[in-house]
Amino acid sequence: MAFGTVTILGGRGMLAGDLRQVAARRGVKVKIHDLPEFDITDDWQLKKVVAESEVIVNCAAYTNVEKAESDPEMADQVNGFSVGRLGEYAAGYDVPVLHISTDFVFDGAQETPYCETDEPNPINVYGSSKLLGERLLVKSGCEYCIIRVQWTYGKGGVNFITKILKAAKTQESLQVVDDQVGAPTHTAEVARVICDFLERDVFPVGLYHFAAEGSVSRYEMTRFLFETLGIKTPVTPCKTADFKTAARRPLNSHFCCEKIETLLGRKIPTWQNMLKTYLETL
Ligand SMILES: NC(=O)c1ccc[n+]([C@@H]2O[C@H](COP(=O)([O-])OP(=O)(O)OC[C@H]3O[C@@H](n4cnc5c(N)ncnc54)[C@H](OP(=O)(O)O)[C@@H]3O)[C@@H](O)[C@H]2O)c1
Repeated sequence: MAFGTVTILGGRGMLAGDLRQVAARRGVKVKIHDLPEFDITDDWQLKKVVAESEVIVNCAAYTNVEKAESDPEMADQVNGFSVGRLGEYAAGYDVPVLHISTDFVFDGAQETPYCETDEPNPINVYGSSKLLGERLLVKSGCEYCIIRVQWTYGKGGVNFITKILKAAKTQESLQVVDDQVGAPTHTAEVARVICDFLERDVFPVGLYHFAAEGSVSRYEMTRFLFETLGIKTPVTPCKTADFKTAARRPLNSHFCCEKIETLLGRKIPTWQNMLKTYLETL
C-alpha cells in the first residue's frame, strides 16, 4: 500500500465495514471517525482529523433518501458543504481524498449506461446534495478521487436486499418495481477497488463509475434472490409510479465502467456472481 494508515470518515457505515476488513487483510492500518464522536459538519473536528491523516476515504454521508426530502439543509451540510470543506483542509495539508458518490446524481432518463462524462441532473434532495459535494470537492483544489457507486449491499447495513428479505418473511406476497434498472454491487468489491486505488504509486485523481457487470430490474433481482435462497413468497412486477414515495428515483442507474476497468486492468464480476458470493456468507 502506498499509504501506511488510511483514515475513514463514516467508518462504521455499511461500505466502511467492508473497507476496514479488506484493508486489514492487506496489512493497512485504519483510523475510523464516525457519529457520535465525530461529526463531519463540525469544522474544528474535521480540520483536526485532516491534519492528522495521510489519506482520507470519505464514506460519511446522509444516506436516508426519503428523509432527506424533508431535511434538505442537513443533507446539504453533510453531503455537500462538509465535503467542500474537507477538500479545502485536505488541499492545505496536502492529504489526498477518495470520496464516495452515487448514481443518484443522474435523473435516470438516459437509455444507455451512464459514463463519467454524462451531465448529472439529480431529481431528489439526496442526489443534489451528493452532487454539491462532488463539485465543491473538485473546486477545493485538493488531490481528489471520486468513485460513484450504485445499488450497494453489504453486511451490517440496511439495503434493498435486507428490506426485501424482511418483507418476504412478514408479507404473504410482494410487489417489486420492474422499471428501475441497475447493477446490485457488493460493498466488499467496492472496498477492494478502493484499496487497489490506494495501493497505486500515483493517486488516481478523477471521477470513476463502479458497479457490478450487467444490469437488472429490481423485480428480476428479487426473483434471482428468491430462487437462489429457495424463498417461495410470490412476487409480482409493478411500476415505480404505483408507489408513493417522498423522493423520486432514477429509473436507469446503469453505469458504464470502462474507465475504471481500464485503470484496474481487470474485468468487474457480474452482479449475479457478486450476489451469489454475498449470499453464501449469510
Ligand atoms: N447504499 C447505497 O445503495 C449507496 C448507493 C450509492 C452510493 N452510496 C454512497 O456510499 C457511501 C457509503 O454509504 P453506505 O452505503 O455505507 O451508508 P451508511 O451505512 O449510511 O454509511 C454512512 C455513514 O456515515 C455516517 N454519518 C452520517 N452523518 C454523519 C456526520 N454528520 N458525520 C460523520 N459521519 C456521518 C453514518 O452514521 P449514522 O449511521 O450514525 O448516521 C454512517 O456510519 C456514501 O457516500 C453513500 O452516499 C451508497
